Formats: sequence, C-alpha cells, structure tokens
Amino acid sequence: MTFVGRKSKQEAIKAFERFVSPAKVRFFSMVGIDFVPAKRESVWYWDLDGRKLIDCHCNGGVYNLGHRNPEIVSTLKKALEELDIGNHHLISEHRASLAEKLASLMPGEIERTVFGVGGGEAVDFAIKLARGHTGRKKIVYAKGGYHGHTGFALAAGDEKYSKPFEPLAPGFVAVPFGDADALRKVVDEDTAAVLFETIPATLGMPMPPDDFFPQVREICDEKGALMILDEVQTGLGRTGKMWGIEHYDVVPDVIITAKGLSGGIYPISATCFKAGLDDFMAVEPFIHVSTFGGAEIGCVVAEKVLEISARESFLDNVSAMGKRIREGLESFAEEFDFVREIRQKGLFIGVKMEEGYGPLLSIACYHNGILAVYANNDPSVLQLLPPLIIDDGHLEYIMQNLRKALEFASERKDLLEVIKQLIG
Ligand SMILES: Cc1ncc(COP(=O)(O)O)c(C=O)c1O
Repeated sequence: MTFVGRKSKQEAIKAFERFVSPAKVRFFSMVGIDFVPAKRESVWYWDLDGRKLIDCHCNGGVYNLGHRNPEIVSTLKKALEELDIGNHHLISEHRASLAEKLASLMPGEIERTVFGVGGGEAVDFAIKLARGHTGRKKIVYAKGGYHGHTGFALAAGDEKYSKPFEPLAPGFVAVPFGDADALRKVVDEDTAAVLFETIPATLGMPMPPDDFFPQVREICDEKGALMILDEVQTGLGRTGKMWGIEHYDVVPDVIITAKGLSGGIYPISATCFKAGLDDFMAVEPFIHVSTFGGAEIGCVVAEKVLEISARESFLDNVSAMGKRIREGLESFAEEFDFVREIRQKGLFIGVKMEEGYGPLLSIACYHNGILAVYANNDPSVLQLLPPLIIDDGHLEYIMQNLRKALEFASERKDLLEVIKQLIG
C-alpha cells in the first residue's frame, strides 16, 4: 500500500476545496502557491507534481530534525511493538522518563512537566498554573505575538485571530514586546504571569534588547508574578542553544515546548515548571487532564528528539550554519535595497524588508525551490526556518535560490500592489 499519490494533484485540490477548506484553496490559488506535499525526506519536500523544495518553513520547527528523521522513525516503529497511547489517568513510566529528561535539559530548577498535544494546550495550562498558584487574574502578554488557537492562548494573541470569537477570557493585557518600561507600568499585585515568546516568530522575529529579559525577571520577582516563556518555536536547539532564553542568562518559572518535540511524527507538547507551582493540584489532582496529552508512544519519540537535539555536534551545527547564513544575508542586504535588517539567532531567521515584500518573497521563493513564509503579524518579514540538520550543500542551495528569489522581487516590484490587493 502506498499513501502518497492516491489522488492526482488536481483531484487532491478539488477534494480539499470541497471537503476541507474552500477558503484556503482560494487563498493559495490567488497567490499562485499550489503546493500539495507528497514525498518528504530529510530537508526536502516534493510536490504531488514531482517538484522538489527545500523546507525553510518547517512548520515553525516541527521539522527541526528534518522530515522522517531515520532515528525518530525507527524509534516509533520499535515503540509500536510494545506501546500505545496509554491511560492519562494513571501513573506512567514513559511520561515520567520524558519529564525526567526534560528536567535534565531545562535551565535552573524547572523540573516538573504537564504534557499536552499541541502548543496552544500547553500555553493554556501555563495560564492555569499561574492563576491556580498565585490566585491572581491578570496575564500580561506581547502585542502581536502568537501563542495558539485555544482558549487562554487565543486571549493572549492578536485580535486578527480572535475578534469574531469574542468574548474572550478576561484579564489579558498587552504590552509592546521588548519594552521593559511599558511592562513595569502594567505588572501589579494582581498579575499572575507575564507570558512572552522568547523571540516572537509571528511578529517577525524582533530581537529583544539584551537587558529585556533580565528586567522581565526582576519585575516578575518584585510583584510576585510568574515569568512564562513560550519556546514553541525558539526551543529545542533552533537558536543554537537548547532554549532561546539561554542566550539571555535568565531562568523563567515556566517554559513551554511543542512543535519540534513531536519529531514531526507524533504530536506532543510540554509545559515545564518549577516544582510547587502546581500546589493547587494537591486539592484535586485531576483538575487538569488531557486524554492524548503525553501519549506514551509520543513520549518515547520525544525522548529521542531531546537526545538528538541536545548533542553538542547538533547544536554546533546550528550555530555554524546560522553564522554562515547571516554572512550571506548581510551581503544580500547590501545588494538589494529593499532588504533592511537581518534578524537572527542560530537558524531562527527573519529577513526584514520594506513594507509588503514578505508575501512577494514567499511567492518568489516558492518558484525558486524554497518553501518559506512571511511573518503574519509583520508581512515585511520573511521567516527562514531551515531544518537544523542542514549541511554545506543545503546551505549553498538555499543561498543560491534565495538570491534568485530576491532578484525576481527586485525586478517585479509592480507585483507588490497586486499582492497587497489580493491578500491585504
Ligand atoms: C510561539 C507559538 N506558540 C504556540 C503555538 C501554538 O501551537 P499549536 O499550533 O501546536 O497549538 C504556536 C503555533 O504556531 C507558536 O508559534
């Protein structure tokens, strides 16, 4: 039995349009991106029509280890001989092992984990933890950030994704990312937590000032609020360190990880926190449960993901490749006048351009063999998130084809207006 190619590309698009989402098919046809993922292997994605792209989207980090990483696939196959999802009410050897491994890789005294299925769920639990522990209501978050599509996570996001679903959970207050003075003004005795992405991906990867997170820590300590970091995109080696926050020498109270923890194979997420923050669960241990959260088979996969991601050679590769990509991008910035700034930590990269260039570059990349998208909450930024396993050959491919995409964009500035009208 083969799964890929049971439908032709046109049949797949038609069925998706009818049975899944006409709106998404309309969007992709408007921007001329008709990609239907078929075969996938390592850093590569093939379209159903056979065309090959390098995956610099990686689904926000899901494919940090590449597609169908052989070590991950073989772990899953072996696990299927013995395990299933397990029973989330019961004590679990596999959740215990994975939590122990996470604790060994976490900064400071973060040592306990509650598992979920996706990032939004893990953020929701972090908010429960903060409110449950402190008995306070207010949650302060960054304007224009993104934490997921679920209840509390949605309330901590941009209104673009939440307006039609109001009323949202109350008690959420936005501040500009990276502005410690603004934060100081709103964090008070009723603040349960401050929640930030370490570097907000959807906001176009603005790098926080070096003293920002130390100040966040200080403000949280002063007011007794928890410091929660969403490392769904910046974690698991993406920035060249295991956790993005390690660049800033600060230990938060809670770290959230998801996406890449799955190995791209089995969904799982984790909210990791200092022991004791879950004191409110002593009264009712089952006050927070998730049937598929921390499925045992997924735990075994995630443990392997952590083992690979923590290898010194793995993290060294991320830093080395990041440095080389930066050099290349800086030369592009000199050459192409619409490229304004390179935002980068390891292989977490944003190319800041003039207004409107992000969508044009995404389209240009697509037609030049690269899958990469613009930042939704700042469309002047192209996100570049290659798999963390890229080597010299992949790097050369990315730089050569990105240059072609930039050349296309500089020759077709007329398309900027058309794209703006199509997608706003
Ligand atoms: C930083 C961040 N946090 C949380 C989420 C939500 O994760 P999920 O889609 O798995 O719920 C995302 C998803 O893109 C994200 O980028």
